[in-house]
Amino acid sequence: MYSTLLVLHSIFRWLVLFALIFSVYKAFKGYYANSPFSAIDNKIRHWTATIAHVQLIIGMLLYAESPIVKYFFSNFTVSLETIDLSFFGLYHFLLMLAAIIVLTIGSAKAKRKATDKEKYRTMLIWFSLALLIIFISIPWPFSPIVNRPYIRIF
Ligand code: HEM
Repeated sequence: MYSTLLVLHSIFRWLVLFALIFSVYKAFKGYYANSPFSAIDNKIRHWTATIAHVQLIIGMLLYAESPIVKYFFSNFTVSLETIDLSFFGLYHFLLMLAAIIVLTIGSAKAKRKATDKEKYRTMLIWFSLALLIIFISIPWPFSPIVNRPYIRIF
């Protein structure tokens, strides 16, 4: 169960990133070209938020199963000073949760805006902020703080 969730979570990170980057690109292009907010743009907005929500659910299940998180809570005071443990026990979880909340608010606000320009603008601002938070909270292999591989295979 744990290793399956870890692989799924690792793979889904790429879906989240590609969907968000594509959404931000479409919002940027649409905003500056004064394009109509099409049904496809609306689907992109909707599916980007949905992919992020699936990653949130996988992340929560992983959080419940992870031996790193279990160790973090059973040795709380010491773990707070160990970066690998506090990263997954606290920072990664809180920052990713914040990013997904930002993304969800942005998606809901964009949906309710009256004009197409406002829809693109709202999506551009909120999705870019979510992308930034997600990007800095991923344990990249090149990170000097906490690093994990680019991908895990079943
Ligand atoms: C867009 C959101 C997220 C992205 C892109 C993301 C990405 C990642 C990546 C790339 C890893 C390393 C996987 C590996 O070792 O191969 C990871 C680990 C982990 N993530 Fe996330 N994550 C997200 C959200 C969350 C959330 C919301 C939670 C908790 C509720 C969470 C909990 C964890 C845990 C516990 C681990 C470490 C598991 C372990 O090594 O035992 N993640 N995440």
